[in-house]
Amino acid sequence: MTERVLYVITCATPAARDVGKLVDLAQGRGWTVCVVATPRALRFIDRAALEQQTGYPVRSDYKEPGTPDVLPPATAMIVGGASFNTINKWAAGIADTLALGLITEGIGLGLPLVALPFLNSAQAAHPAFGRSVKELHDVGVRVLLGSEGYEPHIPHQGSKHLPNYPWELALDAVEVGTSDEN
Ligand SMILES: Cc1cc2nc3c(=O)[nH]c(=O)nc-3n(C[C@H](O)[C@H](O)[C@H](O)COP(=O)(O)O)c2cc1C
Repeated sequence: MTERVLYVITCATPAARDVGKLVDLAQGRGWTVCVVATPRALRFIDRAALEQQTGYPVRSDYKEPGTPDVLPPATAMIVGGASFNTINKWAAGIADTLALGLITEGIGLGLPLVALPFLNSAQAAHPAFGRSVKELHDVGVRVLLGSEGYEPHIPHQGSKHLPNYPWELALDAVEVGTSDEN
């Protein structure tokens, strides 16, 4: 069977602390998992624990020019918890972090791409956010909001929602995009 490689991309939100839950779920369903963090997300994650869990370095920056890739190529990518900032930059085509470089390019490569946001309702009310979600949706990115995924929380109450953050819905959605029928 061909190896299925999932890139789990995480941003600087409290959900990043729990990204190991998604790694665990995906490994349980047969995926090889690599974690990529935005530079700011490094302050939220337990990097050593994730490296031990996945067997791969957690990358957060572009490699040095001329050096080999240390991760196997991705079959699919999940951005979770996807920050307000990264979602807007992704839609705008900004690639100033490795995470953004991978997911902006992932659109053109036709990879199954899923975003499970973690943000508050005040952030979600900014007009750029709605535009970004629509633009990403129009190019085939599954952005899991509301009943499909995450309902933006009341400001300052995000931590309350972490125990029930629906990591498994992101995995279900990416697997629809990688099933044999597609
Ligand atoms: C304690 C803390 C909690 C935060 N929570 C969120 C959040 O839930 N959602 C969000 O989009 N941004 C949140 N932010 C803001 C992001 O960290 C900030 O926008 C950052 O620039 C995102 O960078 P990234 O998209 O490159 O990961 C939080 C910041 C801090 C310090």
